[in-house]
Amino acid sequence: MTASELDALRQDATRAHGDYGAGALIVCDRLVRIYAAEGIEVQALQGLDLLIESGELTALVGASGSGKSTLMNILAGLDTPTAGAVRVAGHDLATMTARQRLAYRRSVVGFIWQQTARNLLPYLTAYQNVDLPLRFAGARRAVRRQRAGQLLELLGVPDCAGRRPDQMSGGEQQRVSIAVALANSPAVLLADEPTGELDSVTAASVFGALQTANSELGVTVLVVTHDPAVSSMVRRVIAIRDGRTSTETLRHGAGDGSGDGHAVEYAVLDRAGRLQLPLDMTEALGMRDRVRLEPRQDHIGVWPDRGATAPSSDPGSPAEGGGA
Ligand SMILES: Nc1ncnc2c1ncn2[C@@H]1O[C@H](COP(=O)(O)OP(=O)(O)OP(=O)(O)O)[C@@H](O)[C@H]1O
Ligand SMILES: [Mg+2]
Repeated sequence: MTASELDALRQDATRAHGDYGAGALIVCDRLVRIYAAEGIEVQALQGLDLLIESGELTALVGASGSGKSTLMNILAGLDTPTAGAVRVAGHDLATMTARQRLAYRRSVVGFIWQQTARNLLPYLTAYQNVDLPLRFAGARRAVRRQRAGQLLELLGVPDCAGRRPDQMSGGEQQRVSIAVALANSPAVLLADEPTGELDSVTAASVFGALQTANSELGVTVLVVTHDPAVSSMVRRVIAIRDGRTSTETLRHGAGDGSGDGHAVEYAVLDRAGRLQLPLDMTEALGMRDRVRLEPRQDHIGVWPDRGATAPSSDPGSPAEGGGA
């Protein structure tokens, strides 16, 4: 990418968009993140749009290298975008000062990483780990004791209070990590593959702890996962592909996390009208280079390009795009 192309991209991405995402807790507006290392440029995020409402529990899925951690690091206030706008709970993450950023990381977001060892201080007990962020925030001793006790209880690990991380199982460590992340009552809990190092039963219980945090405390949760069992328990699953949000699966009728209910897949339509069709659907129908469109009163049909031989109207076609 040349400097002028990058400039154009920046201008395009940072242009004002009226009130896009007004009212949403997390707003990513044409987010771009380009890593430049040793002359090689990696476009990790390529104009990602994302809106998340307060109180939602959302899963983020996508192939390795699709940009999930890049997005999480930006939302956590650990990295800044190359272009585009990003707002969390009213905080503009692209223009924050270092001091505002620190305050943001301490009180607005909590995070949990995949590596259990990265979440907890090894020489402190579970109780002391939860107590630490409360101390940093200047909470009084009685308040700290009550809050730490409550959180360890809520997440099902009160027995671990006096134990150090090396005296706990991986699942217990992750539950304690959730308690630490929740200590200062953040608006958003970010978890980047928190169950990645765990077996499936333990993973389900740690995910259950995230659901408890969401339902009992009302904290908005965004969790990256590779685990299909976990994503089947979530009402909204967003797929990221090549640094953009590509499809969403909404599960209707089962807000209880039981995995039941009726799942419907949606493609994300960005404000330029761009639509990314899932590869498994387009490949199955041999769709490539261009597809034929047929506007209808209530939907748009998408057909493989077979020149003049294409059917003019077949309501039963599997390629029929719904809801657009
Ligand atoms: N610090 C960095 N410097 C250069 N390139 C990077 C850096 N961090 C990430 N990348 C690149 O950016 C792209 C997105 O990486 P990212 O870590 O966000 O992917 P991911 O979706 O989290 O993948 P995974 O599922 O493997 O964790 C990848 O091509 C990666 O190689
Ligand atoms: Mg990652």
